Amino acid sequence: MTVAAVPSDPATASPQAPVIPRQRSAPAAELHQPQPWWRDAVIYQVYVRSFLDSTGDGIGDLAGVRAGLPYLRRLGVDGLWLSPFYPSPQHDHGYDVADYCDVDPVYGDLDEFDRLVRDAHRLGLKVVVDIVPNHCSSAHPWFREALAAAPGSPARARFHFADGRGEHGELPPNNWRAMFGGPAWTRTTGPDGTPGQWYLHMFTPEQPDLNWRNPETGRAFERILSFWLERGVDGFRIDVAAGLFKHPDLPDSPDPYADERTRDSVNPLAWNQPEVHEVWRSWRRLCDEAAARDGRERLLVGEVSVPTAAEHAAYVRPDELHQAFFFDLLAAPWEAAAFRGVIEEALRDIAGTGSTVTWVLNNHDQVRTVTRYASPSGDADPSGAGTGGPRARAAALLMLALPGAAYVYQGEELGLAEVLDLPDEVLTDPVFHRTGSRLRVRDGCRVPLPWSGHVSPFGFTTGGDARPWLPQPDWFAAHTTERALADVGSFWHLYRDALQLRRSLPHLGEGPLRWLDSPPDVLAFVRGDGLVCAVNFGDGPVPAPVAGPPLLSSGPCADGTLPAGTAAWWSCDPSGVLD
Ligand code: NOJ
Repeated sequence: MTVAAVPSDPATASPQAPVIPRQRSAPAAELHQPQPWWRDAVIYQVYVRSFLDSTGDGIGDLAGVRAGLPYLRRLGVDGLWLSPFYPSPQHDHGYDVADYCDVDPVYGDLDEFDRLVRDAHRLGLKVVVDIVPNHCSSAHPWFREALAAAPGSPARARFHFADGRGEHGELPPNNWRAMFGGPAWTRTTGPDGTPGQWYLHMFTPEQPDLNWRNPETGRAFERILSFWLERGVDGFRIDVAAGLFKHPDLPDSPDPYADERTRDSVNPLAWNQPEVHEVWRSWRRLCDEAAARDGRERLLVGEVSVPTAAEHAAYVRPDELHQAFFFDLLAAPWEAAAFRGVIEEALRDIAGTGSTVTWVLNNHDQVRTVTRYASPSGDADPSGAGTGGPRARAAALLMLALPGAAYVYQGEELGLAEVLDLPDEVLTDPVFHRTGSRLRVRDGCRVPLPWSGHVSPFGFTTGGDARPWLPQPDWFAAHTTERALADVGSFWHLYRDALQLRRSLPHLGEGPLRWLDSPPDVLAFVRGDGLVCAVNFGDGPVPAPVAGPPLLSSGPCADGTLPAGTAAWWSCDPSGVLD
């Protein structure tokens, strides 16, 4: 619910209306030069397959994304990140790339991509594409050539091929396990059916890991980056950015199940090798050169999962990646102390790197916040009406009040909960299939978006028999964009209002954060010199830290109180803060 001083409703305004220039707060010494756009940008993650289908095949596509651009513009984000749309057999929905310089026909073609970039830029939206350098698809020409070539050949040297152990090479070269379950090695079979060498894949067997110790790999990716830079992209989201290099000797791991157990890249022999930093330096040079040519700053944002804050910070040194996702916020349980701990850690970690924290609450790999924050008593009804919905709204206001950049995953702005009851036979996630149907983790957040109407396909796809590639539940009817835009109490309006305030208030975006004293279940802080954000993680109401009505709140706030599971923003003179 929004109160006092909420900006007018752009849902009724033309999507062509001029973007309100962002008033960034910057240290005095930097005031003379504009801050790069990415430092406090809010980027919308488009999972292309599930955004909007323009062809009636039940699968989202680039033309659908292009049709949705005015919607994103209305929402008020600064740009979009497109999940992989390259030719791919889709064993991991595009994170198995068969051709890095084309578009899968399911999603469109290069001309459609160019139109998308052109229209996005016209609307003032940046376009970030996903790049997958750790592994390619087993259908990539390089891998096909490697399979056909002899052991020790240059074609095999682009990957990690090795002889097996055991008397007949029947055992994998080491004991590593793949992230998605099973051994990290698969044995090849020759044309005559005889077993041959093994190859390494840290994800599925259809995603062979590339050998980054072979200079040919680095050169190929520089060409790929240049290809997309020339097509006008504003940046790259880098998949598995702590991957690429493996320990040169590929030794056994003392804890081979650690990655599989934690679903995180923690095997110190397979991830986070020092050599990877040189790759990010060379990619940064490429981006800086492109920016020098046309004055448009490009972004490298890495998916960096490493054990410590200090290691994370090393990826965003001034000559490496511009940013790296900070996943600890996403991983934090709904507790004030946990949230405060990860926020403090992030701000400490980033200080001195020249980067800004890149906050995330949701993405295509994680259970959605509405479901995650539901109280364990199981009150999360599928529409999000339990505690999970209000808490997800509060978390969004918290995230958007923090210094730095933020990513919003499609459907987050509609308050979608995880779809928990997809039947086994429709699940496509390799994690499900490779863990003996134990882990149902990634399909439920990828169900195609509901746009309009009362029954599936909710405007996601059109055409006689068109069915979304994953079935949509009936309760999506309450979460269509059509309904969200018409209801000023919706998640959508909360995000839109918060994004508009971020643009118009000089205290948000970059700049300092000062904690206020607050009860144990409450987090309260001041941004700049006049924006207070408070979140009540507890079960009962608490006094609001600021007198008077909030600028924006995630739920009803009356009589100077902040109810349970609610966040609010107040604009006030620092002397008005009840610290
Ligand atoms: C991280 C991506 O977010 C995930 O979806 C993918 O499966 C793995 N990397 C492997 O590419």
